[in-house]
Amino acid sequence: MQITLYQLIQVVLLGIILVYLIYYVYTVLFDKKYQPKAWQDAVKNGRVSKALQKKEKQYPDKVRFFNFWFQVERLKKENISGAFAELGVYKGDSAQLLHLMDPGRTFHLFDTFEGFLKEDLENETGKAATYTTKNFADTSLEKVQSRLESDSFSFHKGYFPESTTGLENEEFVLVNMDADLYNPTKAGLAFFYPRLSPGGIIIIHDYNVDWPGIMKAVDEFAASITEPPVILPDQDSSVMIFKSK
Ligand SMILES: C[S@@+](CC[C@H](N)C(=O)[O-])C[C@H]1O[C@@H](n2cnc3c(N)ncnc32)[C@H](O)[C@@H]1O
Repeated sequence: MQITLYQLIQVVLLGIILVYLIYYVYTVLFDKKYQPKAWQDAVKNGRVSKALQKKEKQYPDKVRFFNFWFQVERLKKENISGAFAELGVYKGDSAQLLHLMDPGRTFHLFDTFEGFLKEDLENETGKAATYTTKNFADTSLEKVQSRLESDSFSFHKGYFPESTTGLENEEFVLVNMDADLYNPTKAGLAFFYPRLSPGGIIIIHDYNVDWPGIMKAVDEFAASITEPPVILPDQDSSVMIFKSK
């Protein structure tokens, strides 16, 4: 039987696709080399819930995931008090993740749950300049509440920082800021930092050239404190601000 060149190319291509598929399935299911030793040890010793293990598998940015986890573990180990908070919740993905890492912590969630405000978008540049009030508007308080059912959550729907009313005396230990824009990021740093426990941390997402508003808000704030901001090598360059003890 004679094989034509065309059939040969087809067989080779099919072979490549098959090898790639096997490699992909293997890495997703069995490759754990990228996981830090501390995580593997915690899993082995039953200190990581099945729900969190599942999230780790699905989460696309492993550096961001493990940074959250290491910070939460540190706060537990050092027994630092205070609530978690998130500014920029959208449908609740990162809030759910952080909650699974320490389910007993009070967790304050701030969002309009209707997307951005026109006033906040006005002076934005970079990627944020392409946003409209329709972005991130496909959510609602009710939907997020039914997804994040634990009593640990406290929802603050409305425009930030107005939505902080009544929380002036609250103490925070970990704040995840993911609001994409200059105004809420600047207001978030001004509100949370003075209320951060010593040893506590604020993590701000998107500290990179695509988001000049975020960079400006962080740089301006960082110039007013003594602790240097720490940039992470995660996909979107988060930056961390610690409160010294
Ligand atoms: C990038 S999304 C947050 C993504 C979210 N952390 C996740 O895990 O999917 C940005 C969110 O910030 C919210 N936001 C931006 N500016 C705000 C403001 N001034 N007050 C309240 N929420 C705001 C938007 O409504 C939007 O839901």
